[in-house]
Amino acid sequence: MIKHAHQVAVAEDANLPAQPIEPVAVADDHIAPAPRVSVQAFCETVETAAAVQAASEDRRLGKAHVKIQMGGATAAVEAYRSSPTPNVIILESDNRAEDILGGLDKLAEVCDSGTRVVVVGRINDVTLYRELTRRGVSDYLIAPVGTIDIVRAICGLFSAPDAKPVGRIIAVVGAKGGVGASTVAHNIGWAIARDLALDSVVTDLDLAFGTAGLDYNQDPPQGVADAVFSPDRIDTAFIDRLLSKCTDHLSLLAAPATLDRVYDFGADAFDSILDALRGSIPCVVLDVPHQWSGWTKRLLVSADDILVVAAPDLANLRNAKNMVDLLRSSRPNDRRPLYCLNQVGVPKRPEITPADFAKALEDPPLAIIPFDPQLFGTAANNGQMIAEVSASHKTADLFRQLAQVLTGRAEAKRASGSMLGPLFAKLKMMKRAG
Ligand SMILES: Nc1ncnc2c1ncn2[C@@H]1O[C@H](COP(=O)(O)OP(=O)(O)OP(=O)(O)O)[C@@H](O)[C@H]1O
Ligand SMILES: [Mg+2]
Repeated sequence: MIKHAHQVAVAEDANLPAQPIEPVAVADDHIAPAPRVSVQAFCETVETAAAVQAASEDRRLGKAHVKIQMGGATAAVEAYRSSPTPNVIILESDNRAEDILGGLDKLAEVCDSGTRVVVVGRINDVTLYRELTRRGVSDYLIAPVGTIDIVRAICGLFSAPDAKPVGRIIAVVGAKGGVGASTVAHNIGWAIARDLALDSVVTDLDLAFGTAGLDYNQDPPQGVADAVFSPDRIDTAFIDRLLSKCTDHLSLLAAPATLDRVYDFGADAFDSILDALRGSIPCVVLDVPHQWSGWTKRLLVSADDILVVAAPDLANLRNAKNMVDLLRSSRPNDRRPLYCLNQVGVPKRPEITPADFAKALEDPPLAIIPFDPQLFGTAANNGQMIAEVSASHKTADLFRQLAQVLTGRAEAKRASGSMLGPLFAKLKMMKRAG
């Protein structure tokens, strides 16, 4: 709430009368800064648009990306038919209650799960408020709204004691060494940032040998080792300083890839790093090395989603099955661990078929990525992503689709005509069951 503190200046000179000073706005509640979220506002009035514009310039929204357009719910539905939704949508409605609710129902059809919706309206009515809550609307502001109302609403979505943490953690791990798990993780992180415009951090947990720095053509002086060896200093600001920016929305928490020390960790060594990342960045991709230790197991079990990368041979099949079985039983209330096949189709190599994998793992692979030494070799040696080597390549498209599935975005929208088409439907069912 804003209070106006009416201050009265005490005249120094007793001969002068005391002059009332202009009221000063004092915020009596502390508003925690918003994390690096994407916000899109669809306004109906210039007043609200101006308030959102001013809010976007507030220091507390310094890390957020705010976009404003006019047209209310109709424009929002139109926009999200073909593009992924941001972390937050602000929707202004000038209309009657039924129209507000109708607009929201249409938006729900094209809105990705996880997007938070704030409605700005003119009607002050409990029944409407209840209906909005029932539809999952996070906040309802009554117009006219001021700048600070918008700032408080956006920041409050992420700082309330019961707020869901903003970040989603996706752990990628190989069923065997060298199967391309890191390559897959880096390409997915890159696609999440580029194609979904979500702020993401790729965390390279292969401290001794990690290749994320090479793959993104970065050589940062600091990274994950600085954090894990200074557990007492970890908070969002500290982690922020360790990130190196790769693209507009992508940052890297790099591995040192040096051997001057050894990297033995306790099971909970990465807990506070992940908490700090989760609190400030919408999407965290973990490049988990292929090893089975207290901390790798804990990272996998505690991730929001898991992608196991396997090559099509017997050892990979056995290991992938063991990992998926264990993770399934330790996470009975989560989406099942996902897996993809990589390096499929090496000439003259006998391979285990995707159908056999599907039978053993009781789920089809999320994607089948062909073996393509020319494409992957060029990318690796140039420090580029597959989509940078060849944007129109089918494999680049596969990474885009994996990014969408793993962030829970656009599953319904793109179901038809997609290479992963049948899987989207299946995943939706699995999610509902879960
Ligand atoms: N589909 C593919 N076709 C051809 N080469 C590939 C493919 N996927 C990955 N590679 C190559 O395989 C090599 C190993 O990849 P990567 O380092 O990503 O594997 P990893 O599973 O993370 O290995 P490690 O166990 O060492 O962490 C790299 O040279 C990479 O370019
Ligand atoms: Mg690796």
